[in-house]
Amino acid sequence: MDERLLGKIKKLKDEHRAVILAHNYQPGEIQDLADFTGDSLGLSIKAAETDADVIVFCGVQFMAETAAILSPEKTVLLPDKSAGCPMADMITAEQLRQLKKEYPDALVVCYVNSSAEVKADSDYCCTSANAVEVVNSLPKDRRIIFVPDQHLGRFAAERTGRDLVLWPGYCHVHVVITEDDIRTARAKYPDAIVMAHPECTEPVKELSDEMLSTSQMLKFAARSTAKRFIIATEIGIIHTLKKENPNAQFIAASERAICPNMKKITMEKIVWALEDMQYKISVPNAIREKAKKALDKMVEILPAR
Ligand code: 13P
Ligand code: SF4
Repeated sequence: MDERLLGKIKKLKDEHRAVILAHNYQPGEIQDLADFTGDSLGLSIKAAETDADVIVFCGVQFMAETAAILSPEKTVLLPDKSAGCPMADMITAEQLRQLKKEYPDALVVCYVNSSAEVKADSDYCCTSANAVEVVNSLPKDRRIIFVPDQHLGRFAAERTGRDLVLWPGYCHVHVVITEDDIRTARAKYPDAIVMAHPECTEPVKELSDEMLSTSQMLKFAARSTAKRFIIATEIGIIHTLKKENPNAQFIAASERAICPNMKKITMEKIVWALEDMQYKISVPNAIREKAKKALDKMVEILPAR
């Protein structure tokens, strides 16, 4: 870690009464310097709760947007304005409105990995940590549209026994992890527990032991007596898994599972963000108010684990 840049960040943070939030896929040094790290649900809760004036969001666009929706009075900064999420861009509000016309009686659940406009047109938001609980909480006689991740949608459908209308979105980082990757890792480490993110494909999840959000993986590893884990998600989380569990071994199911957008955040960009108050993320009021309703319901429904 560059101590000179770290010193600058600390000084600027104090000057601006800022807090740094980082997703579990961020580069290791960014996770280490953050005030709070977490999964999408944990970071949303933190963004809603903090009394800081400025939130520096080390993650991708939809996460900073979520913070801006939940805390409109705060300045929310995304240190690299090009850090987007291709999955979130796989459905537009117009496409969702068309889908709703096909199923006019349906309730819409959108994964938090979506634009503010899509959230505004949804009834409920969810994350990978509480998708099952959110779907389970909905009236049994109502049809449910689930957007945009088909793989999280199938996971929620399977766990709840509900028949969901799915959108064909996917995460390009998680779908590179193959069945072969899991079989090969299992053959090499037969004693290991395989933890997979619900964004993985169905065959990968079928070969895994646990399907968990990123923070749920951290909790599971901390509580487990196992000494070896195969990790089927973006490899950034392995940094903290190793740090928090020095006596266990963590093996990436695929070294190719790297999210290039998550890796755009650097220490220099955090300094520039705090020096120049860039890049400010805000959401127009009319969209914000509607999107907040869907997000508030998500924050209320906590996961079972
Ligand atoms: P979680 O950290 O909420 O499990 O989400 C994974 C993800 O892909 C975020 O972009
Ligand atoms: Fe989006 Fe996938 Fe990157 Fe998460 S890991 S930000 S879902 S592209």
